Amino acid sequence: MTSISIDRKLPEGFFEASLRADVIAGLTATPKSLPPKWFYDELGSELFDKITRLDEYYPTRAEREILTAASAEIAAVTRATTLVELGSGTADKTGLLLDALHALGSLRLYVPVDVSESALVTAASRMLDRYRGRRGVLGGRPPEPALRVRAVLSDFTAELGLPAGDGPRLVAFLGGTIGNMLPAERAAFLAGLRQQLRAGDALLLGTDLVKDPALLVAAYDDSAGVTAEFNKNILRVLNAELGADFDLDEFEHVALWNAQAEWIEMRLRSASDQAVRLPAVGLRVHFSAGEEMRTEVSAKFRRAGVTAELAAAGLELARWWTDEEGRFGLSLSVPR
Ligand code: SAH
Ligand code: AVI
Repeated sequence: MTSISIDRKLPEGFFEASLRADVIAGLTATPKSLPPKWFYDELGSELFDKITRLDEYYPTRAEREILTAASAEIAAVTRATTLVELGSGTADKTGLLLDALHALGSLRLYVPVDVSESALVTAASRMLDRYRGRRGVLGGRPPEPALRVRAVLSDFTAELGLPAGDGPRLVAFLGGTIGNMLPAERAAFLAGLRQQLRAGDALLLGTDLVKDPALLVAAYDDSAGVTAEFNKNILRVLNAELGADFDLDEFEHVALWNAQAEWIEMRLRSASDQAVRLPAVGLRVHFSAGEEMRTEVSAKFRRAGVTAELAAAGLELARWWTDEEGRFGLSLSVPR
């Protein structure tokens, strides 16, 4: 068993303070909402991984198909020595990219960045295991490890965790997680990221694409109820972290397509008129029967929109791939 050391980039108490601030703002607003980053405690990360294996949830398979076909080209174009992966989760697809960079001889360092410590440990140990016994292309005595891993526990909207080191860096933001930000948040995030990129660096961005709403809704309301459990997990997190008394059976999972905004919205609908106590933030919150609280948006994109959002942030689209069925887009962009 490999022991993983975690680099904590944010000040002590950052996550506790930001959870409290988000909960106070979100539960006192009308309509109520919570930011999706709070889904991902250990159970939330496990549930997300389970979602990625569901028949209805196509994005992971579609992006894996693209990475299988395009990783060699991505490696050849970027020649990255460092792969930084924002919101790595358990890094199930990342081996495809790392192997392609390793085959080219450029790879030195993998930096998974995530808010979920359990996912980060899985990502880091998975990649260390994958590269154990391999040598760096330069070899040497004692043999140089083929891959160093620096796991960063961070909120990428506050601190990206990009290492300063030399050599081109490839920043991968996969899975369509950028779609979980609201448009203004995306613009600020991309502009902040662009500021930290140097000439030679690149961004590899996964974006789920607009498609038949029935397929989209099925992906977020699966028949086995895993997404419903994932959605309700945000309430479990508030119960555990803030001493709240949400009764999970009193909330129902809702997934709907917002055609105007072109995003899937996940909500939790209160099954009854009820009050919830959150002692750690001094709140008692009333939910009326049928009231819905938004827990996630998952924006779906078109190529022109992705190109425009990248351009607005000072990034130029260099390559664009989709899977055979055109369900998911992967873009490679560079600082302009
Ligand atoms: N990239 C993986 C995982 C996607 S799930 C894939 O493609 O399958 C989204 C991941 O982003 C989760 O692991 C979650 O913990 C992480 N995440 C969500 N919001 C975050 C934030 N603000 N900062 C850092 N990580 C975040
Ligand atoms: C992480 N993110 C891209 C997922 C998505 O599809 O928006 C989270 C998710 N929510 C419900 N299912 C999966």
